Amino acid sequence: MFSYERLLLENKAWAGEKLADDPEYFSRLSGIQTPEFLWIGCSDSRVPANEITGTQPGEIFVHRNVANLVINTDVNLLSVLDYAVTYLKVKHVIVCGHYGCGGIKAATTNADYKPVLNMWLRNIKDVYRLHRPELDAIKEEEHRCDRLVELNVQEQVLNLAKTSIIQRAWKYEQRPHLHGWVYGLKDGIIKPVCEMEAGTHIDQLYEYGDL
Ligand code: CO
Repeated sequence: MFSYERLLLENKAWAGEKLADDPEYFSRLSGIQTPEFLWIGCSDSRVPANEITGTQPGEIFVHRNVANLVINTDVNLLSVLDYAVTYLKVKHVIVCGHYGCGGIKAATTNADYKPVLNMWLRNIKDVYRLHRPELDAIKEEEHRCDRLVELNVQEQVLNLAKTSIIQRAWKYEQRPHLHGWVYGLKDGIIKPVCEMEAGTHIDQLYEYGDL
């Protein structure tokens, strides 16, 4: 059996179990989608949003990319954000990084990962530069990377608040609540590191006056 065939086999078994537990499971889920949360996480295979939060299909709208970045020219991320906030009307947007993130570690080196990855990781180098005094003071490399993981999540939450998508929802609907979390690969525990309630003011340069 090819490895991918196992996935299809497991899928059949899973669908069968769900139906056995609840014959209406799929017909109910396929009819409506009303998740309360948007999850922006790392693509790392060890950080699956549903499993680590004990949630079921239908509960979390998910976007994942390398090192959970919120970049204002990323049409993919912005489309997901706009759809989740404006149409699904999620109440919470969670940016969840994780300790031991390979993308974060790669960005702290001088290695040339060739054009596309260099372009992506550059955003993390910018986060490092913004917080250089604090990060340079941490002598142990693993601890320094872990702190960068936390600061990166904090910056990505701020990047969310800079978008007119979030500012418009904050102004007219007093939601969503933004959260920055970090997941520990070694203990499975999520640590909240920052949050922004609807209406939080940021540097006024980023605040749109004509929403
Ligand atoms: Co990662």
